[in-house]
Amino acid sequence: MQQPVRKAIFPVGGLGTRFLPATKALPKEMLPIVDMPLIEYAVQEAMAAGIEEFIFVTGRGKSAIEDHFDRHFELETTLSERGKTEALELVLQSTPKPGRIAYVRQGEPLGLGHAVWCARRFVGNEPFAVLLADDLIMSDPPTLARMVEVYEERGGNVISLMEVPSEHTSRYGIVEPGDDDGRIVDVQGLVEKPRPESAPSNLAIVGRYILQPDIMDYLSLGSLGTGNEIQLTDSMIKLIGNHPFHGLRLTGTRFDCGTKIGFLEANVAYALGRNDLDGDARSSIAAILEAF
Ligand code: UTP
Repeated sequence: MQQPVRKAIFPVGGLGTRFLPATKALPKEMLPIVDMPLIEYAVQEAMAAGIEEFIFVTGRGKSAIEDHFDRHFELETTLSERGKTEALELVLQSTPKPGRIAYVRQGEPLGLGHAVWCARRFVGNEPFAVLLADDLIMSDPPTLARMVEVYEERGGNVISLMEVPSEHTSRYGIVEPGDDDGRIVDVQGLVEKPRPESAPSNLAIVGRYILQPDIMDYLSLGSLGTGNEIQLTDSMIKLIGNHPFHGLRLTGTRFDCGTKIGFLEANVAYALGRNDLDGDARSSIAAILEAF
């Protein structure tokens, strides 16, 4: 039996420069998709996968995230007194149980690998998940739960993959595939942001990972990679060979909410997917398309 995946890291220390000026004082991860912040979709996905401990790697100006996942007694009392039970339930659902949530400061946004390394003392010697909130995945069953299933069957490391157009490989970490049964790919190598002519495939890493704790040893070397950042991919490469390394093909739809268009698409898709908004959303979009 595998050691269970009980902990998840949420790296939220980035600057969110592609969303300025919105992200000058507001964390990118607090931007809402319809009416829920991006980070809460990620936390709910982790909860659905059985995660019990939530570790946020934060930075300057990110305190709204801490407040969001805390109790808000004044608001709860007011909602309760006004009989707004549905709203009260929504407020309470975003609060993990006491003592299950931890925050660590990254200090300087030196890259995703550095952010994950900053959580090392909270992770200890256990396998852990990493979720990037700006990679929003609409999938049933949710992506991390599917990955945990693969991990429980096969152990090792598990990452989530999607096919991208060949001309876009330089935007992603790309997998060198071995055996591939159409669902699970054996990962033989990884390259961060290769140009199309040197990419070993068009299978790209999406922001969901289950990793073995020895990755922290490699991250602690602090080697700079592509873009002069400490890349997570560079240390994942070193895990290949130490443990089995699986890539699970994504099901559903992934929205890159780190880009303006991806964020817009997610808002439209999630509104259309909601029973309470679907009809109105459709007619509003049709009217806008006609008017502009
Ligand atoms: P991005 O590459 O999207 O960077 O990070 P960013 O700073 O958030 O946004 P842009 O590119 O300036 O617009 C992917 C994820 O990794 C986290 C981010 O918060 C985001 O969730 N991250 C990135 C960190 O936590 N620390 C870092 O040093 C870099």
